[in-house]
Amino acid sequence: MPKKNDAASSSKRKPSSKAIVAEDNHETTETSAVTGRIEEVGKEGAKTEPAAAKKKAPAKKTAAAKKKAPAEKPAAAKEEVPAEKPAAAKEEVPAEKPAAAKEEVPAEKPAAAKEEIPAEKPAAAKKKAPAKKSAAAKEEAPAEKPAAAKEEAPAEKPVTVPEEAPVEGPADAAGTDVPQEAAPAEGHDTSPRRSVAFIGSECYPFVKTGGLGDVMYALPKALVKQNCDVKVILPRYRCIPWEYQQKMIYRGSFQMDLCADGKSFYVGIMEYVWDGVVYDFIDNEEFFGGGDPYTNLIDDIPKYCYFAKAALAALNYMDWIPDIIHCHDWQAALVPVYLRTQFVDTKLTTAKTVMTIHNLRFQGVYNIPTIRYWSGLPDYVFNMGALTVKYRDANMLKGGLTYANIITTVSPSYAGEIQSDYYGETLDAHLRYHSGKLRGIVNGIDYDIWDPDTDSRLYENYNIANVLERKKENKRRLQEELGLVQDEHKFVIGLISRLTNQKGLDLVTSILPQVLDGNTQVVVLGTGDRGYEDTFRYYEQAYKGYVCSNIMYDETRAHRIYAGADALLVPSRFEPCGLTQLIAMHYGTVPIVRETGGLKDTVEPYNRFFNTGNGFTFDRYEPGLLLDAINRAKTFYFENRWCWDEMVQRDMDKNLSWENSARQYKELYLELTR
Ligand code: ADP
Ligand code: GLC
Repeated sequence: MPKKNDAASSSKRKPSSKAIVAEDNHETTETSAVTGRIEEVGKEGAKTEPAAAKKKAPAKKTAAAKKKAPAEKPAAAKEEVPAEKPAAAKEEVPAEKPAAAKEEVPAEKPAAAKEEIPAEKPAAAKKKAPAKKSAAAKEEAPAEKPAAAKEEAPAEKPVTVPEEAPVEGPADAAGTDVPQEAAPAEGHDTSPRRSVAFIGSECYPFVKTGGLGDVMYALPKALVKQNCDVKVILPRYRCIPWEYQQKMIYRGSFQMDLCADGKSFYVGIMEYVWDGVVYDFIDNEEFFGGGDPYTNLIDDIPKYCYFAKAALAALNYMDWIPDIIHCHDWQAALVPVYLRTQFVDTKLTTAKTVMTIHNLRFQGVYNIPTIRYWSGLPDYVFNMGALTVKYRDANMLKGGLTYANIITTVSPSYAGEIQSDYYGETLDAHLRYHSGKLRGIVNGIDYDIWDPDTDSRLYENYNIANVLERKKENKRRLQEELGLVQDEHKFVIGLISRLTNQKGLDLVTSILPQVLDGNTQVVVLGTGDRGYEDTFRYYEQAYKGYVCSNIMYDETRAHRIYAGADALLVPSRFEPCGLTQLIAMHYGTVPIVRETGGLKDTVEPYNRFFNTGNGFTFDRYEPGLLLDAINRAKTFYFENRWCWDEMVQRDMDKNLSWENSARQYKELYLELTR
């Protein structure tokens, strides 16, 4: 699993529930245990998990899992699951109470709401180059392939929908005022308004382990500007920093049936509104009380079965019926499955679903009896066309892909790649079958967070006009902070990454000695697999002053490396989109990437004949080709600084904001609900 971040590893404990809850004496509604639909109203003072809930739910979810999960060993699971009796014929879905009994909930306003080193070639005091390309480059770098043509996303199936899907503002079920940190974003867009529920397992700044967290934060904000009402539904992990926990407002709670034997679980809703986006956190100490968002599949499977169902039940409870339910990665993949099975008789059924794949490698696979037990889903979804894989395992992501109205992934190239055996992670045939509803939309970056001109974490701010001077100061201060030889003429290569097999690190570690020529420094920031961590630690010892391995998760350091490095390495084995190369470009740091997935779609290779392009690229997954790309970059940097500087400014000038991508998502939503 991905590494945790500083937020995730925060030592802050969950605050006392009293402090979290703003008001006493909220009215708590009794809801349908299955879908969270409101049945009748009662009074309840306690805002934390009620004693009843604690009593009904098993004391430890792992213990419960071990008791109920059957003996089969899952293909994907890494731990042994103790032998257990099968969850047996639990596929009977409990009948839901009539919708009529729903409480009328007043609509609320939307979220408006150091040693001697060999002398290097002088970088020669080149003049500042203009931001735009000059004709013909004269350097020796070999010609590179022009940016590959983007693949056409296949046409999607037509979707039939009711003429006017309901658009409702969020209902304030608990009757509390929602705290607001910023005024509601104005709709900058004149296209019809749509309401969207984002459901996913992480979101910056509450909890982030990688790019998914960035997207879950930035895309909703960008959609608000595209005239969308957005609610983001997240687990309320204990590791969410106290500064956010204390601002959450209790919205209500109810009991929900989850397992095949109808076990009942507490679902609390804690709300926080920020930048025009409403964040609703699903509260359940049993599932989300652990330290990190992800632990192991034995715990994570029940956790995200619960989360998917609770997210829908919470929407029902709040009587907020979105036009679109947008689900992210396997942790939210059962949402479309629940919606089209246990929630068909609820108002939510009018919603269309979008399932976005951020990383196909993680799918949520476990043996069928365990997932059938925990999800409580009917037997018929466990077939080869939906959740079943290899006849004995259930794949939660595959279920989501089957039941979603539209599948997206985070770049057009990756949308094509995942339909092949090499990149398909065993789901390529399934994705080819559903290719009519699959498309790729590339990610952007949030300019409020990633802007070298305003970034408070930098030693010195800069923009396209003064980057060439001020970047040097960021480099020098970075070298100082990290104990590297301080010399503005050194070529500094950054690597900011989860240290996992996906990221092409075996290529890096195998060529690093050849890269370190006395004029080059390498700065690594990341956590992950022990083998990579130790290898980078070794290189730091072996090349003191020239390699710095920061085996940690540190947002501030990441910002400073983006600003202080000359180039950023992203040699991934596969990369659905990749955000680090985008951030690097925006900070005037030239990316060196492998031509795969989103890297291929966002980094145009340098073309020496036309002096165009944004970075240096290589195609096949081979160490020699990575070394060649780094050497081309170095040659260019040391011998043709004029053109290098132009590329730096060209990269900073490139539009990498979320605006274009958010518009594409909005068009997709409109297509689905027209
Ligand atoms: P992935 O989601 O596959 O990890 P992305 O490139 O999409 O890759 O996103 C990575 C995000 O996580 C970026 O925002 C990057 O800056 C951040 N990041 C990765 N590792 C670290 C780290 N060790 N410290 C701080 N930020 C990190
Ligand atoms: C995943 C991918 C990464 C992508 C991110 C956000 O973690 O590995 O390529 O940028 O999700 O979509």
